[in-house]
Amino acid sequence: MKKAILLFFLGIIVFGCSQLTEQKVNNEESSTPKDAQRPKPFPDFGYMVDTSLYQGPVFHLSQDYPDTLPGDLPSFLSIDFKKDWRTYLEKVQDYCFEGNTEIDFRVEHNSARKWYHMPWQHWGSSGREGFHGLTQEAPVKKFQLAATQTDSTTGAVAIGFYNDIAGYTIGQMWKDHYRPVHDTDISFRHGAVLFKLLFVTFSDSVKATQQVPSLTNGIWWDGFVVSDFTKMSQPNPAIYRHTSKVVLIQMDIMVRDTTAPHGWVFGNFQYNGNMNRPDKWKNLVPVGVMWDEDPQDSTNRSNAAPKRTIINTALKGTIINPDSTELPPTHLGWNGRLNGPVDNPMSSCYSCHATAEYPQLAIMTPLFNKDTLRNNPVGSPGWMRWFQNLACGKPFDKDARSMDFSYQLALSIQNFDQWKLVQGGIFDTIYRQKPPAFIKRELAHAAAKKVESKAATFSEQVAARRVVPIQFIEQ
Ligand code: HEC
Repeated sequence: MKKAILLFFLGIIVFGCSQLTEQKVNNEESSTPKDAQRPKPFPDFGYMVDTSLYQGPVFHLSQDYPDTLPGDLPSFLSIDFKKDWRTYLEKVQDYCFEGNTEIDFRVEHNSARKWYHMPWQHWGSSGREGFHGLTQEAPVKKFQLAATQTDSTTGAVAIGFYNDIAGYTIGQMWKDHYRPVHDTDISFRHGAVLFKLLFVTFSDSVKATQQVPSLTNGIWWDGFVVSDFTKMSQPNPAIYRHTSKVVLIQMDIMVRDTTAPHGWVFGNFQYNGNMNRPDKWKNLVPVGVMWDEDPQDSTNRSNAAPKRTIINTALKGTIINPDSTELPPTHLGWNGRLNGPVDNPMSSCYSCHATAEYPQLAIMTPLFNKDTLRNNPVGSPGWMRWFQNLACGKPFDKDARSMDFSYQLALSIQNFDQWKLVQGGIFDTIYRQKPPAFIKRELAHAAAKKVESKAATFSEQVAARRVVPIQFIEQ
């Protein structure tokens, strides 16, 4: 009963917020007839506290995507990311920080350059909250972040940003807000920059520093989040959302670059407050850079509870920061490939992101499904399919379309689909534009998918990270 009442209030809050946003935008935009044809804006967020409890700034989805491909390329593209990996990472970081650090990454106010967000991250149990636009990500395992980290309830919450070149592709795919492009491989353009800030859900700085010493002197945000990630597997995780402090731990970057052997460059930074730099954001120190999966290397090694960083110098497509006074002990990915502190130590940036496709036939790693793992044991040729050098813009499965390594892009269309599915019936754009025979097929398809989706929704796959037994090889 208590749950039902809470749910009812949550419903009002969520509905109330989206109503407010739409009303405001409609008032602002109702002056010209052309605007009448504009699609309604995507909702800013899915979860927020009541306005009587909070009057500060709220998250605003930057969604005014450019209609034409922007001409200016980021200047860091001229740096050789293999030779001058460190300068490269620093310059990409500067590009992402410029005009953003002083406005707390409320990017719609950036006066240096335009940044955008991905739509449809508001929907579902992991959906966006309204303080900073954070979504629920992965749980963090005991000792994953430091030898002193005994807490196993924390997890990561995060927000992604897209530069104008990347925003152009999002806008093209989502031009019609009710019929996203889904029948062709998506490809970001040269110079697209994607970055993400990740926070962990420790509630105060004493606990954070005891658990993970490098989080001292931290950057803290408010979030309306499920801070205890064990609750994410409960039937309705939304009821566990509350206002809580979260602390910055990691920054990810992805750059679409035609000079990269397979089209993408990945980079990562980890927060180290002991550096005590005047600009705290600069305490995000480089972890490394990656542009190739090293498919020839099938040695099964991982460092899931890192006491020190173990660098695999045999890798050809990953470079890790060798300075252990700067970089806190970190686990990296499978056999030393690049991965961040909250990422899976048996995977890699490249490995996970290569599987972003529509429909999402592949899982991010065989570890997330016991049958897939049984058929593709660690290090086997099947397992190595997740460590092949898939080219940008190519789908992982032949029956799917590529979402060009962007997991939020893949999620945006999956969330949209799931929303239609939960609602049931035939969506109006389909009804108006398609003949009855098609509608019959669509209904049958929706019914079949509903059954299917019970077994393997995306959030179940994500939740499965906790339940799939993983055998880590300690070094
Ligand atoms: C276990 C799988 C996994 C691993 C490993 C992983 N990611 Fe992601 N990443 C995701 C998922 C899922 C999302 C989308 C969810 C979100 O951002 O809210 C995402 C989102 C992102 C985004 C936002 C842009 C987008 O649309 O995808 C960036 C940038 C990113 N990751 C970079 C990295 C980098 C760099 C690494 C390695 C240091 C990495 N990721 C490792 C699964 C992974």
